[in-house]
Amino acid sequence: MYSITQYKHLIEGQDADTRKRYALIEKLSEGFTKENATALELDRLLTEQLELEQADEPPAPSSGRKAPMPVSKKVKAKPAQDTNIDELFNELFEALKDPRTPFSTEDIAKAVQDSLAQAKITYHQLDTDLQQKLSAAPVLIQYALPGITTTAFKKPEILSFQYIVDDVLLGNNVLLIGGAGTGKTYLAEILLAKKALNRTHLTINCSQWTTPTEIIGGQTMDGYVEGKLIEAWVNGYILILDELPKIDPNTAGLFNDALAKTKIPDAVIFNSRRESFVKHKDFGCIATGNIYPINESVTYGANNKQDLSLLDRFSGSVYFIEKNPVIEREVLQNDMIWSICDHLRSVIEELKYEAQLSLRFMQNARDAYLLERERLNSKTKNGIKASDGKTFKAAVDSYLSTFTSVQQGNLKERIRYSELFEGFEYRGFPVNKKIVF
Ligand SMILES: Nc1ncnc2c1ncn2[C@@H]1O[C@H](COP(=O)(O)OP(=O)(O)OP(=O)(O)O)[C@@H](O)[C@H]1O
Ligand SMILES: [Mg+2]
Repeated sequence: MYSITQYKHLIEGQDADTRKRYALIEKLSEGFTKENATALELDRLLTEQLELEQADEPPAPSSGRKAPMPVSKKVKAKPAQDTNIDELFNELFEALKDPRTPFSTEDIAKAVQDSLAQAKITYHQLDTDLQQKLSAAPVLIQYALPGITTTAFKKPEILSFQYIVDDVLLGNNVLLIGGAGTGKTYLAEILLAKKALNRTHLTINCSQWTTPTEIIGGQTMDGYVEGKLIEAWVNGYILILDELPKIDPNTAGLFNDALAKTKIPDAVIFNSRRESFVKHKDFGCIATGNIYPINESVTYGANNKQDLSLLDRFSGSVYFIEKNPVIEREVLQNDMIWSICDHLRSVIEELKYEAQLSLRFMQNARDAYLLERERLNSKTKNGIKASDGKTFKAAVDSYLSTFTSVQQGNLKERIRYSELFEGFEYRGFPVNKKIVF
């Protein structure tokens, strides 16, 4: 019934279009076993195409047969590498529109759907928008700047992330400024030093008690200990000056010499024993702080006004890190907790209360909630009640207790406290649901 079967042995060696057509006929006819109008017509076209290819001269059309469709000729003339699934189907449609073709609309739709189900679309056939979206996946970027190679990383949703990576690679000292718990230390240590730059880091937790020994080395009860600045300098580590504004401004002066030379190849600094150390090319410095320490801060009382000469070491590479709901929600994996905390935070801001509600608190509240759920689920087994321990409500209560009683009243009213918390109504919400206030 299907004459193309006599050419079965030739199909493998044919171009991609021919192979697709053969597969289409085979599919429509269910392995050449069922009579199908579309398949039979396609069979006729493809057989004619192959006959033409077999003979040197195209045979004159026999009286009983229709002339070959233009689609056959076109496909035959096309080299295999030029095949394009869209063109092929356009041609097929043109051929099928021919009044001599006895196909029904359903036949055409089915044939095209079946073929599309098998078609494989390549990356280059996608439109440019889609190509760009797909290429947002992690990529290895390499710039041919002297001595600089970046590593592969998935860009987190942090504004200026790439600027900071570039800064470190270019030998610029970076200063990240932001409220408590906005993720500065995590950004510096994990996302930048470890993940993006693939480098070891050494952190100095700065405070008024930070000593010169910790920075440039010194004698201790256990003998001489090398300073972290020196260690990072010679080994090419990222030196993280966490909470830099909290350091005593005179102690901070010890960084001045080194941080003026971060960019200079083979620059030399000295430890407390006046021994010299040559800079490793990978040395970098990232500092964090709650405020830009040009003045004293009332909110962040432990921060000192720092010397302009120290601040100048970071100029051009100061970044203000804001709260980031995208990251918060990703970290928490609990939109119910996030939406309540986020609402509480907006109310605090709106009422201009001097307080922070950070990701750190959100994690605390989320973990309490998970524990509470564990107890809730196991209550039938051991008689334990969900509230026999830390709960989400307890975390919120602890947070609210740091406000004055008038402020607490205002905040509770605005977050529908009695409804959500006194009856533990929040336990009934699915974790992936945002609560709308
Ligand atoms: N991108 C992130 N992915 C996972 N966890 C994060 C991320 N950013 C921050 N965190 C978590 O959020 C909490 C607060 O972050 P972090 O300690 O870095 O804040 P900070 O801005 O340094 O705060 P502070 O000013 O109080 O030192 C930490 O528990 C940290 O692990
Ligand atoms: Mg920190």
